[in-house]
Amino acid sequence: MRLRAEKVLESSNRYLDLIAGKPTSEAESHAFINETVDAYEKHVNRGFITYRKSVTEAGQFAALEWSGHGSVVLDSLGREYIDCLGGFGIFSAGINHPRVVKAVTDQLQRMALNTQELLEPWRAALAKLLSDITPGELSCSFFINNGTDAVEGAIKLARLYTGRNTFLSTIGGFHGKSMGSLSLMGKATFREPFRGGLQDVRFAPYGDAIALRAEFEKAEAVGTPIAAFIVEPIQGEAGAIVPPSDYLPQARELCDRFGALLIADEIQTGMGRTGKLWGVDHSDIAPDIMCVGKSIGGGVMPLAAFISTPKIWEVLVPNPVIHSTTFGGNPIACVAGIAAINVTLEEDLPRQAAEKGELVIKGLKDLQARFPGVLTAVRGMGLLIGLEFPSDPIGYAFAAGLFRRRVLVAGTYSKARTIRIEPALNIPMALLNDLLNRVEDTLREIGATTLPSRPVANSAEHEPILEGARV
Ligand SMILES: Cc1ncc(COP(=O)(O)O)c(C=O)c1O
Repeated sequence: MRLRAEKVLESSNRYLDLIAGKPTSEAESHAFINETVDAYEKHVNRGFITYRKSVTEAGQFAALEWSGHGSVVLDSLGREYIDCLGGFGIFSAGINHPRVVKAVTDQLQRMALNTQELLEPWRAALAKLLSDITPGELSCSFFINNGTDAVEGAIKLARLYTGRNTFLSTIGGFHGKSMGSLSLMGKATFREPFRGGLQDVRFAPYGDAIALRAEFEKAEAVGTPIAAFIVEPIQGEAGAIVPPSDYLPQARELCDRFGALLIADEIQTGMGRTGKLWGVDHSDIAPDIMCVGKSIGGGVMPLAAFISTPKIWEVLVPNPVIHSTTFGGNPIACVAGIAAINVTLEEDLPRQAAEKGELVIKGLKDLQARFPGVLTAVRGMGLLIGLEFPSDPIGYAFAAGLFRRRVLVAGTYSKARTIRIEPALNIPMALLNDLLNRVEDTLREIGATTLPSRPVANSAEHEPILEGARV
């Protein structure tokens, strides 16, 4: 035991030196890379090592994420990558935006976390700012550390307010992987192994208002009326699926007619990603509950929230800790949120996303026309863009080819043939032109070579494609 403590002290001292930026020799950094791969294999999950392109496509040495600024990431050997993945949407303001970093550093030096007794000024300030920028009557916020937990809170709020237990979600919808949020997921791959979450959840095809009405009617007819319909304004994880323009207005109308709440999951679409501040702004509707996450933390801190109207919020007032968490609404996360809102408005990130998205989508569609056998569809809105390939191996080969050309993109969690492009909204046009050139090179290479025949992981690199995986 004593020996182990000495070893741990020695290792942790070495890590702390590296964290502090102590210079290392080339041999030391190579050794550290191999040590990291080994630790991933033994102590994290060796599944990652088999599939991460940062291991399989990086050449002799795996790429360790080391630093980043704006839309450029550097690995520990100083190799540069253009970030067009944006951490699945967290880096809308870019990596380490100076204003967000400054706010967090300023607060960190005063006090990082909260005692839980004194009032937290930045929690209140952020809630107030959100009430000014969210649609309709939304004005009360509960802060938490990730999107999944924001959805979890929204589920509880909807149950408490409506007294109903049945939820309606969409096929292909993604809302997180905790037992509650997972139950609303319209992807069997992740939900089925954990069957038995929320008891009564129904799914309707995304974008189909007629099917949605049928679900409301059936639930009503059998005496299990819907508590809430949860929907992404544009399905992100499913590959940037844009619904018909009248879908959300009709969903709003159906929720009103059947006494259900409309929960907009803006965790990926919010904060300007789709070319407007919120995805629902494209349809000019206001939800009853909105979940935000990812980029609301400014790409510096984990932060998420569920936000609702004063009328609905009233059910949380008699016992304000009926839903609570130790870290939610902590000061460093909240100041990051305040700075993120400031940057989003000051730099007009929604407008940048709209303009740049239009150019990139046009450039990609031109490439699709030139390589139709490789790239079969381009879709999306703003800078939430999905590319479709004929098969998982081709999609994976595309993401791998871009990685070798030092551009980060990834597939969705369950399909390697659907690739997501989600760069920072303030990414310079020059980098987007580099992206298009490297996409063209990669499409040409794939078109000219034999495609991999071995089974591949989904290119999000989290799980292997499951046998017979659905949706
Ligand atoms: C629409 C949506 N909802 C919920 C989540 C879950 O958020 P988190 O991964 O922060 O828990 C995600 C994550 O990708 C998402 O895209």
